[in-house]
Parts: sequence; C-alpha cells; structure tokens
Amino acid sequence: MTEPAPAKVDMAKLVSLSQRRGFIFPSSEIYGGLSSCWDYGPLGVELKRNIKQAWWRAVVQERDDMVGLDASILMHPRTWEASGHLKGFADPLVECKSCHLRWRSDDLKGDSCPSCGGELTEPRMFNLMFKTFMGPVEEESSTVYLRPETAQGMFVNFENVVNTTRKRLPFGIAQIGKAFRNEITTGNFIFRCREFEQMEIEFFVRPETAQQWFDYWVKERLNWYVKLGIKKENLKLRQHTKEELAHYARECYDIDYFFPMGWAELEGIANRGDFDLVQHSSFSGKSLAYYDEETKQHITPYIIEPSAGVDRTFLALLCDAYDEDIAEGEKRVVLHFHPDLAPIKVAVLPLSRRENLVSLAKEVYADLHQHFMVQYDDAQSIGRRYRRQDEIGTPFCVTVDFQSLEDKQVTIRERDSLNQIRVPIVELKKTLQAKLAGEDLFVLPPGGSVWKGGKEGEGV
Ligand code: GAP
Repeated sequence: MTEPAPAKVDMAKLVSLSQRRGFIFPSSEIYGGLSSCWDYGPLGVELKRNIKQAWWRAVVQERDDMVGLDASILMHPRTWEASGHLKGFADPLVECKSCHLRWRSDDLKGDSCPSCGGELTEPRMFNLMFKTFMGPVEEESSTVYLRPETAQGMFVNFENVVNTTRKRLPFGIAQIGKAFRNEITTGNFIFRCREFEQMEIEFFVRPETAQQWFDYWVKERLNWYVKLGIKKENLKLRQHTKEELAHYARECYDIDYFFPMGWAELEGIANRGDFDLVQHSSFSGKSLAYYDEETKQHITPYIIEPSAGVDRTFLALLCDAYDEDIAEGEKRVVLHFHPDLAPIKVAVLPLSRRENLVSLAKEVYADLHQHFMVQYDDAQSIGRRYRRQDEIGTPFCVTVDFQSLEDKQVTIRERDSLNQIRVPIVELKKTLQAKLAGEDLFVLPPGGSVWKGGKEGEGV
C-alpha cells in the first residue's frame, strides 16, 4: 500500500471544530462532562444518521441476502455466559500505588506509572461489561448487563429470522445499535468511548464456503469506506496474530485507518466459525441447527462478522475530509464530505438583507428544504457565509442576488471546485438533486455562464 497522506489535522483541532460548530459536545458538559461519553450536536447527529443510512443502504437495502434487526440492549444474562463475555471479556488492569490512576497493562511501554512514575500493582483481569439490576431488587439473581456488542442479539434470533423470512444460506442479519464497555484506557476523542454505536453484520454460510465469504466481506467492507470518499492510502488491512485472536475467532482482519494518533482499528472482520450457534444451543438447550434442503442434512452454519463502529467511522470521515486552503482569495477550513454524508446539503444565502431579496430567498429555502437538509443564512458578508458553510462541509451554496429578482435565476457555488453557475429557480431542485447524486448535469439556461473561482458576483 502507498504511504498515508500527511495528516492535515491533529485531534485538538478536530475537537475544537466539533465543539465550535455543533458536531460533538462532551456529555453532560455543564456538570464538567462524563469521561469518554459524548453528545452529538445538531450537525453531528445529521452526519451520524447519514453514515448509518449509507451503511444500511449498502448492506441491507441493496442486497437480497440480508435482513435487518433491532434487538434489545438488555439480554438474558445467560447470553453472556454462553458468549464467553462473562469469563473472557476482560483487560489486564494495573493501578499506580502512588496516584491510584488505572491503566491497561498491555497498553503500557514501561513498568511504572506513565503519569507520576510510581510503582504499579500486579495486573488483574477487569471485566469490561457494565452491570446493572433488573427490577426493584438489587441482588445477584437480578443482575443484567449492558451489551458490549450488538452481535449476540443476532445470534439468539437466528432461528426467528430463518422461520419468519425463509432466508436460505448464505444470508446475513444486520444491526445498528448502542454498545457499552467500561474501557480502562479511553481517550482520543470519540475513538474509544464507554458508550458507542456499532454497525454489525452476522453473515451465515455453509462451513466449506466460509473462507470465500470471509475474503468477499473483507474486500466489500474496505471498498465501502473508499466509496464514501476516504483516501485509499489512509486505509490498510491488518491480520490478527494467533495470540490476539478473540476467543471466538478463527481468523480476523482489522481495517485500520491512519488517525491523527497513528494507525488504529476502524472495523474488524472475523470468521467466528460455529462458535456462537453451538454455544447458544448448548446454553439454551434449543437446537440452532439449520436444515439444509440441498443436502437434506442439519448443519451449524459458520458466521462471518464485519463489525464496524459508527463513532470511529465518524472520526475517520472527519479526519479525512478536513482541509485548509485558499478559496476566493481567503484562507478557509473546509470539510470535503461526500454529498451523501454532508450534514447540510445546501445553504440558501441572499446577497443582502433587503426585503425583496430576503423574501425570494425564503421562498427558495422553503421549497428546497422539503427535499434536502438546508440552512438559510443572511448574517454577515457573503464571503463569511461561504466560509461558515465550507467549514461544516456543505457541498452547495445557493446565492440569491438582485438580478434574481429580474431573471428568476440563482447562483450555485460548489464547495470543492468553487465553480459557480447560474440556474433558473424552476430548475434548481432538479439540478441540485443531480449534483448531489454525483451527476454533472447542469442544465445551462440560455445566456447562463460558468466560471471557476472568479470574483463573487462576477458573471451573475
Ligand atoms: N462483535 C465483534 C466486536 O464487537 P470489536 O472489534 O470489539 O468486535 C467492533 O468491535 C468495532 O466496534 C470496532 O472496530 C470499533 O469500530 C467499534 N468499537 C469497539 N470498541 C469501541 C469503543 N470503546 N469506542 C468506540 N468504538 C468502539
């Protein structure tokens, strides 16, 4: 693979931009925040929804071998015995004897406290699952856990899905949902949180085809990020060594992204074999074997699991989209989001606050926001307003000027190329739809003009 693109942004800049523009806020900030929990603000929630929608579209809507599921976060506690999480989902924890900070011992370089240099305790295994109680009595028998992965909801519903959808192998179940881990070392913004969201696929296959499907999903998932605009050189595959394989996995590849702190996992793709269905059959006493009509035999399918994080995808997209350049003679920060992901698709900007201009601009806005996420902005100079939209990744600005009152045309300005084009208002929606879909279909009106990076107002 080629070298990663030199980072244009460090984490501090991303955190500051995210807070300043309303992408991400610290959770319960007025109380000082809650460690490793984050709130997605008005723009963040749009980007997050767009990521999930793009994933759902690619893995469920556009395929006929996949169905969706939305399982409960709280599951029967036996689930976590069967899955191995009660026993095995633990990290080695050490504590500093002086400052009492806790660390994951496998993250440490030396054998003293990274904060104060103090002596560390012997490592002990620390289970990462959050425990709580169901019902009014807090006792051992009512203990339940916040799920640490969405996957188990799909395994325990395997039979329900087969019976209700009549899906035959190979087929998959896909789910997006919250997961919780009481991580020891957190940080790097939303990279490692205690509450996060996963987008997981459990793809059930005949055992003898598992390798072929594993290879297929590794390629498919890697390309999903590329289609969303992530630079190829910032992505790489990393195979897990035997020692780091999870207890359920026969083989696993991570898709790593070149984050500001270095290469780190964005998504994992594992061949889980028949581990989960065998375990849940044995713990529940209910056979989860599948009757294969082709061979007239009962088999236990193998599972290929591509497991992605919504928050990490968000962070990777933010890093990858970030740029600083010169536009229209001014320095700007710009997010080059793929149009499908941009939180706001179009901004409507009247050139001045004169009543007749504002009224036409509001008409344009009212029509467009039936179809796209649109912002209306008439505060400050047009240049400042372009900068504001560039900084949040809005692909198109529509400027309504004095000539618009006469000729019923407006100017579309593109975030990346800085091209400007004059379009009749009646063609505006259609033109923007085509542009957002990646088609270059400007319908030029008679006498309309196109130019690149010219002075504002020029050619209007
Ligand atoms: N079911 C398999 C599973 O959960 P994982 O590698 O532990 O595998 C899958 O998690 C993905 O979930 C990761 O690649 C990452 O994107 C995301 N993820 C895991 N822990 C996370 C955390 N603490 N904060 C944010 N995302 C996390």
